[in-house]
Amino acid sequence: MPMQPWFSDAKLGIFIHYGIYAVDGVPESWSFYTGQVPHERYMRQLDGFTASRYDPGAWAELFVRAGARYAVLTARHHDGVALWGTAQSGLNVPAHTPAGRDLVAGYTDALREHGLRVGLYYSHSDWNHPDYASVSHPDPGRGMEELNTNRFVAPADGVEDLAAWARYLVYRDAQVGELVGRYRPDLLWFDGEWERSESQWRMRELSGLILSLAPETVLNARMLSYGDYATPEQGVPIVPPDGPWELCLTVNDSWGFQRDDHRHKSVGQLVRYFTETIGMGGNLLLGVGPREDGTIPAEQAERLEGLGAWIGRHSRAVYGTVAGLPAGHHYGPSTLSADRRTLYLVCLDIPRESVAVRGVRNAVRRVRVLGTGAELDHRVVGGLHDVPGVLWIDAPRAADLDEQATVLAVELDGELDLYQGAGRT
Ligand code: GLC
Repeated sequence: MPMQPWFSDAKLGIFIHYGIYAVDGVPESWSFYTGQVPHERYMRQLDGFTASRYDPGAWAELFVRAGARYAVLTARHHDGVALWGTAQSGLNVPAHTPAGRDLVAGYTDALREHGLRVGLYYSHSDWNHPDYASVSHPDPGRGMEELNTNRFVAPADGVEDLAAWARYLVYRDAQVGELVGRYRPDLLWFDGEWERSESQWRMRELSGLILSLAPETVLNARMLSYGDYATPEQGVPIVPPDGPWELCLTVNDSWGFQRDDHRHKSVGQLVRYFTETIGMGGNLLLGVGPREDGTIPAEQAERLEGLGAWIGRHSRAVYGTVAGLPAGHHYGPSTLSADRRTLYLVCLDIPRESVAVRGVRNAVRRVRVLGTGAELDHRVVGGLHDVPGVLWIDAPRAADLDEQATVLAVELDGELDLYQGAGRT
């Protein structure tokens, strides 16, 4: 299925890891898997999860101010605690925590009211489900042997219980069916796929089930061969993945709320991640970790607002654009208007004398600083036969520089025509 255009045009999404792990502020699910926190203590967080100030409308307003067009909420992480009132056997917030209500419904309604697309995260794995640790991975791969020894993942004695595994898949499919049927998400963001093979997961059947209920649902690559787009994590790739993709990135070093993690990326760093990503045709899915009461920490909200302010000043270089110049033409990210006639050059550092662009065959009509409209002088120097010269653009005056990253809009005389040779005619 071709990618839904809303996804490619969205550029920014917000990833929300919200769950009982915010009560003590410990790593989501992983803290009991690794033994960092005893399982019993981890589960006691169920009693402290209140969602007492949960206001998804305020989340949605913040995400809109951040410039995001969609969000993804952890409907159920690897710990198996569903945020909605599932009719299946598993743990869930309405029945097992003082919060006592469905948190997914309010979130989906609030996002839609604010014109945002709705994403739901769902982990294939459930480390708390009694039927989950019933089979082993047939070929976990080097360094991944632990998968078949961890007691939350595989049978301790190695003896498989295929009936239990079949029950688990019925449970997972029923939960996914609930999510699709009740909330009609635009995007399902799966995770945890590495613990079983594609055939153990019955991915084909699961994908068939989702698409038969809602054919336009976008699926991430953690549906293995049945995903629509790649999900690099925590760093911008050097070369863009094939096809549509999305970088997921924490705003500090953690997905969920962790009291002592103050290592937040600066707004300038976020602008860099964001422009590098969209300049290679990807989306950025930026993570926040609400406290157990549902509020997003101020230092995270400020980062979102700062990124949103930069996007607001440069929206023409963001929405409705496609990947810009490949590496080597301009020292920084760039995007290209959908009609391919305007190049947006991002200058992450302050240009000194000039900005030089190589390998553009088109004549240039006009260059302006996108943020202020100031026009910049430019000329082409050198070039021979069909090898284009260098486009020199005068550096903007200090008053026209953006605090985070200045964008130059280069209007071409036609669709971008690039030279990529070795310089000999
Ligand atoms: C990893 C982790 C998980 C996190 C996810 C986000 O797969 O297992 O904790 O939710 O990354 O991409």
